[in-house]
Amino acid sequence: MSKKINEYVTWVGKIDWELKKFHGDEFTTIKGSSYNSYLIRDEKNVLIDTVWLPYDKEFVANLKKEIDLQKIDYIIINHGEVDHSGALVELMREIPNTPIYCTANAVKSLKGQYHQEWNFVPVKTGDTLNIGKHTLTFIEAPMLHWPDTMFTYMDKENILFSNDAFGQHYATESLYADKVNQAELYEEAIKYYANIVAPFGMFVTKKIQEIQQMHIPIDMICTSHGVIWRENPMQIVQKYLEWASAYQENQITIIYDTMWNNTRKMAEAIAKGIYEQDKQITIKLMNMAKEDKTDVLTEVFKSKTILVGSSTVNNGYLFSIAGILELIKGTKLKNKKATAFGSYGWSGEATKQIAEELQKCGFSLINEGIRCQWTPDEQTIQKCIDFGKEIAKA
Ligand code: FEO
Repeated sequence: MSKKINEYVTWVGKIDWELKKFHGDEFTTIKGSSYNSYLIRDEKNVLIDTVWLPYDKEFVANLKKEIDLQKIDYIIINHGEVDHSGALVELMREIPNTPIYCTANAVKSLKGQYHQEWNFVPVKTGDTLNIGKHTLTFIEAPMLHWPDTMFTYMDKENILFSNDAFGQHYATESLYADKVNQAELYEEAIKYYANIVAPFGMFVTKKIQEIQQMHIPIDMICTSHGVIWRENPMQIVQKYLEWASAYQENQITIIYDTMWNNTRKMAEAIAKGIYEQDKQITIKLMNMAKEDKTDVLTEVFKSKTILVGSSTVNNGYLFSIAGILELIKGTKLKNKKATAFGSYGWSGEATKQIAEELQKCGFSLINEGIRCQWTPDEQTIQKCIDFGKEIAKA
């Protein structure tokens, strides 16, 4: 169902309460998501973005209830990923000659995915489209988070259509940020940033500074996922600036996997040591075999230091630890410290290998880590406690 935002703009997207996985199995979306599409009615009518492919027919059917499709003058695709462009094929079947305004890179991504010679109109930063009372201005935003991404700004209403940027995987009927539970909203917003936007932090800062220098008033930020920011919309822009600046909280996260609980015992003893040394630090222990990787990556993003531990198995470390290290590496986090730990029976390579991987992830190593052969006895537990104190001091 559509939702009127103001006299000229109507939300015509899809709320996907059922979405629990995104990007294949990469991102867990326990609170669902939405694919926000917007219809602007002026002297010319404009559709901004569409929805994910499985909802293409539903989207077009609903859009027909809102407007005669033949009266759509322009389509704007701010970003070519399938969760926003997925209904294009179905839509363009009905209005095949309607011009599609997008970046030159989006022409490539759309052609690459759909193999269609639609009526593309490539645009650059500063290009405008007059639609009657309003003018739309395009702002390229490459690598936020694809090379093809752009924002569209609508004057007079002062709306920034930001696509993925400032979004959240958060299904709600409420539509606006000021209408939902704030703790829940920000939890999803930081999770989205940590898991999708974080690798492109330097582009975030530069783009926001560029928009600030344009001195355009922004009264509303209409994202392509989750809620619209209308009360103090710059609150999320400010958060993005913080998150993009080597963000960290006073938190240490201990990630581990364990075959027979020996590495877990080490993790718990290290946590005890950290707590004894500094009771102000937030400590999180996360068993990678049981935790959700999207949540773990979010906690890593918030941390100033992480510890990664694994039993040694077949001269290496456990599968779940390999997976999270790969995700962490891709996130390109800055200004964080790390070390490794783990138990072993005979060869014991895991700790050294994890430490090497943490260095490749861009973390500065506090030390070489700590190993324990077989089950930790009282003396070894004390060593782990002391190790935790050392970490807290570092
Ligand atoms: Fe929501 Fe990059 O697509």
